[in-house]
Amino acid sequence: MPDQEGLKIAKDYQTEVPFANQGGFHVKGANSLDWGMKKHLTNIFDPESGNTVMFAFDHGYFMGSTAGLERLDLVIPKLMPHIDCLMGTRGALRTCVTPANRKAIALRVSSGTSMLNEDLSHEVVAVDVEDAIRMNADCMAVQTFIGADGQLESLDNLSRVINAGMRYSIPTLGVVAVGKEMERTDRFFKLATRIVAEMGVQMVKTYYCDNFEEVVAACPVPIVVAGGKKLPEDEALTLAYRSIQGGAHGLDMGRNIFQSEHSVEMAQAIRKIVHSGYTDKEAYEFYLDAIH
Ligand code: 5RP
Repeated sequence: MPDQEGLKIAKDYQTEVPFANQGGFHVKGANSLDWGMKKHLTNIFDPESGNTVMFAFDHGYFMGSTAGLERLDLVIPKLMPHIDCLMGTRGALRTCVTPANRKAIALRVSSGTSMLNEDLSHEVVAVDVEDAIRMNADCMAVQTFIGADGQLESLDNLSRVINAGMRYSIPTLGVVAVGKEMERTDRFFKLATRIVAEMGVQMVKTYYCDNFEEVVAACPVPIVVAGGKKLPEDEALTLAYRSIQGGAHGLDMGRNIFQSEHSVEMAQAIRKIVHSGYTDKEAYEFYLDAIH
């Protein structure tokens, strides 16, 4: 480990220079992976746009029944046609999602806390890779808590899942958590996304922030942006637009879709930004037309 004294501040991100090792494959950083990994990544990231619309409904893994997700069996089928990838727990997927669908699966495999805990950063790996294989998961999602009390165990969880994923060619999605004590600055997200990428994940989920394009430039795998708390629809679409403009390869939204009064139209509007080059204003006009 280098001596930290006199370390220079990183600043040479060259955000205007495209990723140099694309090698003809549409997923950033995946050029040297094997066929199975590439196939899973292609199930998630559209080969034409290079992007994905993930729908996160894994909140129950620590929040229990969540507003808007009370009836997973009713919510998921109506949104399914408008998204590319379902992000959920094996319990939700097996009970409430028909296997007769063509969507990618991002399987939440870390767990161990609940809303009743003060500190949410202590998790375990709760799903064996064999079960991820049985479910035909396209990636396994692990929460990481950089800078938190549970950092070491979350990075241990992450490395176990990456190692198992490498054995069976299943990508890992590293989810950057923002606990109460963690800052939401580009400094934090550059640190956390890069650590997670260097651990060996094939994609990262994180939050949008100032200088987001620098976070993207310094991260050698695709970033999908988390939605976070429910915003007014126009603001959520601006978040989506800025994320894609900043170099994100998709959105992984939950509450901004399922807590919208018009969740289907909201998913459709996000899709326009992610795959069809709509601006936030155009997508909001589409949304308003669709709900009237
Ligand atoms: C938690 C997660 C959840 O999937 C995600 O936060 C839920 O999405 P949203 O915040 O958009 O409701 O990864 O870290």
